Amino acid sequence: MATDKSILIIGASRGLGLGLAREFASRGWRVLATERSRSDELHAFDGVEVHIADVTDAGSIAALAKAASGLDVVFVNAGVMGAAHQSSDKATAEEVAEVMMTNAFGPVRTGRALLPSLREGGTLGFMTSLMGSIADSSGGYELYRASKAALNMLAKGLSEQEAKARDVEVLAMHPGWVKTDMGGSAAPLSVEESVAGLADVIEASGGSGFRYVDYTGKTLPF
Ligand SMILES: NC(=O)c1ccc[n+]([C@@H]2O[C@H](COP(=O)([O-])OP(=O)(O)OC[C@H]3O[C@@H](n4cnc5c(N)ncnc54)[C@H](OP(=O)(O)O)[C@@H]3O)[C@@H](O)[C@H]2O)c1
Repeated sequence: MATDKSILIIGASRGLGLGLAREFASRGWRVLATERSRSDELHAFDGVEVHIADVTDAGSIAALAKAASGLDVVFVNAGVMGAAHQSSDKATAEEVAEVMMTNAFGPVRTGRALLPSLREGGTLGFMTSLMGSIADSSGGYELYRASKAALNMLAKGLSEQEAKARDVEVLAMHPGWVKTDMGGSAAPLSVEESVAGLADVIEASGGSGFRYVDYTGKTLPF
């Protein structure tokens, strides 16, 4: 079924971002999607307009913002686990900077730069994690948790300070624990199951404000 809706997905070379691009294309949306380096899987299916972008590279995001306008949804999916030790004690300044820039500051700068590319009343989504919930935390995975908690905070701030004025809803979304390079093979959810739920929540979004929700639409403790 064709629709006149459009979504830009940032970080769509593999895993959940690639799955989201496929899911929205199959729902008849116009899909713009980004890679950092060539993803044959992303280029393999029809109807997707591929751009190059890195959330830590302001120049690439500015070029993307110039190329896109009137979008219904911008979804920033890009993310990394950070250094394997995950320890706040062991982390070097470079490791802290890398995980914070890639998972929190880069995504929020990207969302802010792309706000003018969204139509009024559109949706700005960020892929966060339940591991970014302070209320839910049992500790561990310190680098990843801190970066996603920072993303949640910055996304809510962007909603309050800038997005509300344009009636853009900001969603911080947890995809569930999903079988991807990051999630690993023990994860209970397939990419297809997670992205179908995420797409349902995104399709039904559009009130101004901020929500921290999972792929079923359930509100999560901040
Ligand atoms: N899988 C899970 O269980 C799970 C659970 C909770 C949250 N999440 C979140 O969901 C998102 C996607 O995760 P995934 O499981 O699909 O991981 P993944 O398979 O490792 O994919 C990560 C994606 O992010 C892109 N990326 C990384 N750094 C980037 C940057 N600086 N600029 C632009 N793109 C960048 C990667 O591109 P390259 O191919 O170029 O590296 C890749 O497309 C992440 O934000 C992750 O934290 C995942």
